[in-house]
Amino acid sequence: MGRADQEFASRLDDWRPDLDSALRGLYGARSADVADRLIDSARRSNAKRSKALRERDRHRALHPDWFQKPQRVGYMAYVDKFGGDLDGVRRRIPHLNELGVDVLHLLSLFAARVGDNDGGYAIRDYLRPDERNGTSADLDELIEALHGADINLCADFVLNHTSDDHDWAVQAVAGSAYHQDLFLMFDDDTEPSAYEATLPEVFPQMAPGNFTWRADLDKWVWTTFREFQWDLNWANPDVMFEMGDMALGLANLGVDMLRLDAIAFTWKRLGTNCQNQPEAHLVAQALRALLAIAAPATVLLAEAIVGPDDLVGYLGRHELERRECAIAYHNQLMVQGWSMLATGETRLARTALSRMPDPPPNTTWFTYVRCHDDIGWAIDDADADAAGVSGAGHRSFLAAYYRGDFPNSPSRGVPFATNEGTGDERTNGMTADLVGVTAALDAGDAAALDVAIDRAALLYAIAFGHGGIPIVYMGDELGQANDLSALDDPELAADTRWVHRPELDVAALGQLGDPSRVPGRMWQTLRTLVEARRAIPALHGGAPTRYVDVGVDQVFCWHRRHSRFGDLVGLANVGATRVTVDQAALGPAVGTALDMTPFTDLLEPRASAWTDLAPYQVRWLADPLAYRTVPAPPQTG
Ligand code: GLC
Ligand code: GLC
Repeated sequence: MGRADQEFASRLDDWRPDLDSALRGLYGARSADVADRLIDSARRSNAKRSKALRERDRHRALHPDWFQKPQRVGYMAYVDKFGGDLDGVRRRIPHLNELGVDVLHLLSLFAARVGDNDGGYAIRDYLRPDERNGTSADLDELIEALHGADINLCADFVLNHTSDDHDWAVQAVAGSAYHQDLFLMFDDDTEPSAYEATLPEVFPQMAPGNFTWRADLDKWVWTTFREFQWDLNWANPDVMFEMGDMALGLANLGVDMLRLDAIAFTWKRLGTNCQNQPEAHLVAQALRALLAIAAPATVLLAEAIVGPDDLVGYLGRHELERRECAIAYHNQLMVQGWSMLATGETRLARTALSRMPDPPPNTTWFTYVRCHDDIGWAIDDADADAAGVSGAGHRSFLAAYYRGDFPNSPSRGVPFATNEGTGDERTNGMTADLVGVTAALDAGDAAALDVAIDRAALLYAIAFGHGGIPIVYMGDELGQANDLSALDDPELAADTRWVHRPELDVAALGQLGDPSRVPGRMWQTLRTLVEARRAIPALHGGAPTRYVDVGVDQVFCWHRRHSRFGDLVGLANVGATRVTVDQAALGPAVGTALDMTPFTDLLEPRASAWTDLAPYQVRWLADPLAYRTVPAPPQTG
C-alpha cells in the first residue's frame, strides 16, 4: 500500500462507525448499500486528489484546530459585486491581505438558474462556476492563488434544493422516475395540504406556501423557498449518494469550508415545521464522516439560522457529543447584538446566551454582524419571559426600530417578509444604515456620525472578541450604504435583501487612509480589531464563552478561559452614556476568582484605567503575558 492508501485506510477505520451509524439512523435496512456506494466514491475521489490538497490534508491532520486559531478572520462577498468575475476576485486578493482576512466566502459562485436564482441559491451545477464568473480553469487558478496567499475558501453547498433547471429536475420533467424520486413530488394536493397545516413560510410575500404546481409534470413539487428551488428528498438514499458525491467534488476543487446551506430544512416530518428534525443532524454527520475519510482538509459550516435551542446541535452537541459541523453561524449572538444596541440593555442577551449549551471544544462559531440575508428576530419567548419582556413585543419593537419607525431610531433598514398572519417581520440593510451612519451623513450631523460609527465598531468588536471566526460582510469595511436602486429594479424589488448587496465601492478604496471620512474610519476600526485579535491566544476557538452580570445593565460582559491560552474578559458599553464598572467586583463576578490586576485593554493598550467605558466603547481585557511557558517563581515571604 502506498502512503496515500494507508492514510485513507486509517481514516476509514476512524470514521466508518460515524458514517454507518448516521446512515442507519436515516435509512435503516437500506443503509448498507448506500454506505458501500459512498465509500466507493470516497475512494475514487481520494485517488484523484491533487498533490497540493493531499499536503493540505496532512497539514491539517497535524493542526486539527486550524480553523479555531485567533488569526482566522473571514470576509464574505459576491463574486460579481466584489470583483466582476473570478479573475477580478483574484485581483482583489491584496485588498483581503491588507485587511488581514484569511477565510473568504464567495457567494453566487457556482452555475445558478438562468433568470431569477435567489442570489445564486438555485443551483444548476454544483461543481462548475457560473459562466458569467468564468471557467473551471479560472476557478482552479483563483483557488490556487487564494491558497498561495494563505486564504481559505468557503463555498456554498446548497443541500435542501436544486434549481428547476438542474439536470436532475430536467430529467424529472422528461419522465425519469429515478430523478423524480430525488425530489418531493405529489400527484394531488392531499399530502401537501397535510404538511402545510404545520409549515411556516420562509418567503410569505415572494413565495407563499411551500408547494408549487408544475403543469409540465402534472404534479405538486415541494418548494420551501422560491417556486424554482425544488427541495431534495433526503429520505431517498440516492439523494445522499448523489449529494455525497457533490460534496467530494467540491472538496477536490479545494474548498476548505463547505457551507451547508439551509441544513435545518433537509428532513421533512408530517405534523412538524419540518426544520431541525433529528435526521437533519444525521445528514450533516454522514457528510462530515465522508469528507473526513476522503478529504479531511475540508470542514463543514452549518448555515442553520434557527432559534437558540436548536443551534448548538449543529456543532454536534447532543445528549452525547457527535462529530457534526466544525463551525456554525452564531445567529443568536448577531441578533442579541442588534437587540442590545436598540435597547441599551444587556439582560435579555445575557439570559439568552447563557442558556445555550457550550459547543464541543473542537468546534467554533462564525460570528458576524451582517450577511447577505435578512435579520430574522430570533428572540426566544422563554428567554424574553425570563428577562421580563414580551417575546412578540420585543420582536416587533426590533423590526420597527430598525426600519426607523421608533422615536430616536437612526436606522434605515428595509422591512422583509412581513407576515400579516403571524405579525413577523425581518429586517434588511447594510450595517451603515442600521447603525445610523447614512442618516447622519444625510443630515450632515458630525456628532451623530461619530456615534453611528462607534455603534458599528461596538458590534464588530463583539463579533471579533467573542470567540469564533469573525466575518466581515463586503462593504462594511468601507461603511457602505444600502443600494436603494434595487427597490426600483423590477427584477429585484420583490426581494428587498438586494438593498444590502451593493457593488464594492471602488472609489472608497482610495479613501482608506483618510481618517476624516467614513471608509477610512471603518477600515481603521476593523484593522485595529484584526491586529489585536491576532495577539490574543485566549481567542482560540476551543474555549467556551460565559456571559457575566457586572451589576451595570448597560455593560455586556463576556469571559473566555482557555485551559492553555488563558483568559479574556470583554466589556461592551451598549448605551449612549458613560459608565464605570467596579474592578474589585469584576474578578469575582467572572466567577473564577480571577485576579485582573495584570489585565490591560488590548484595544486601547495605553488606557490608564479600564473600568471606565465611554458610550459604545468595547474593551478586550487580557493579561498580555498570559501565554507563559515558564512558570512564575513561587512567592516568598
Ligand atoms: C440560505 C441563503 C439564502 C437563501 C436560502 C435558500 O439561507 O443564505 O440567501 O435564500 O438559503 O437557499
Ligand atoms: C430563513 C432561513 C434561512 C435563510 C433565510 C433567507 O431565515 O432559516 O436559512 O437564510 O430564510 O431569508
